Amino acid sequence: MKNTTMVPFIKWTGGKRKTIKYIEKSWPKNFNTYYEPFVGGGAVLLYFNPQKAVISDLNKELINLYRVISKQTSFKRLREYLLLMEYGHFITNSYDDKKKKIIKSSPFYKKIALIDRNSQSDNHLISLKTATKELRAARFIFLNKNSFNGLYRVNSLGYYNTPSKHKPTKTFNEKNIKKISSYLNSSVQIRQGHFSESLKDIKRGDFVYFDPPYDYKKDEKGFDAYQEGGFGISGQIELSILCKKLHEMGVKFMVSNHNTKLIQELYKGFKFKKFYVNRLIGGKGSSRKPAEEVLITNYD
Ligand SMILES: C[S@@+](CC[C@H](N)C(=O)[O-])C[C@H]1O[C@@H](n2cnc3c(N)ncnc32)[C@H](O)[C@@H]1O
Repeated sequence: MKNTTMVPFIKWTGGKRKTIKYIEKSWPKNFNTYYEPFVGGGAVLLYFNPQKAVISDLNKELINLYRVISKQTSFKRLREYLLLMEYGHFITNSYDDKKKKIIKSSPFYKKIALIDRNSQSDNHLISLKTATKELRAARFIFLNKNSFNGLYRVNSLGYYNTPSKHKPTKTFNEKNIKKISSYLNSSVQIRQGHFSESLKDIKRGDFVYFDPPYDYKKDEKGFDAYQEGGFGISGQIELSILCKKLHEMGVKFMVSNHNTKLIQELYKGFKFKKFYVNRLIGGKGSSRKPAEEVLITNYD
């Protein structure tokens, strides 16, 4: 079932590519349906490519993208849009022939980014609200690949505001995305919503991998504030209660997180495997250190 030739087609915060080798050691030998309710960029799904999978995420634009890729006709349209966007981005950049460098951010990138502001317009080419699902999906990939650091950041009004990285970038790898498209089409059910809703039909013998937003230690400033508005401690508690229910039902689970006091308390009695990943967190300079991560399972 494992096929390492498929790789994520977008950059995603918290992507699991560096952690795969640890996940692989703890991957269960057998299970029926695979569930991944915080799928993000899909690094784990695409690496193991289980025969029958259910994926989901809270992010609507991300799930729209998976759905578009999974259907042949919309996938074809998506690729056409992407090629046109690459071209538009390239020819509208100013290029310094002497320095061999792009000197100005492309107005094309800005135009594509700003269509989320035109909610009043019913022209589907300039308003994200009325854009077709394929155009929305293409915009998502185009911005993800061409933005500074691959971020997808929005301001307080929910409008996209990440700058371009100036250098036009290829938006997809033909071979990779074709494989992903046929895999999603043949083997994966795609859902959008809160993690607990996406597991409604789960049964004994199934397996879930949870990769939630991580818990952070109190002294790691900045991340706590982020959590309050996002997943938060309440999200971690809700997830651990769900895991206990799954355990009683005879469902296998694996959870990724930081090895914090809260996580140790919430999953007491389950198996912990600890490791360090070279991801820098916390303050500046000397206070930076890799954080200890854990994989928690209810099976050997
Ligand atoms: C750490 S990332 C997962 C990264 C993923 N494993 C990868 O390799 O790219 C966490 C994901 O959880 C999603 N998320 C946050 N809160 C959620 C919730 N309450 N229910 C479902 N998904 C949620 C985010 O949109 C994000 O994609």
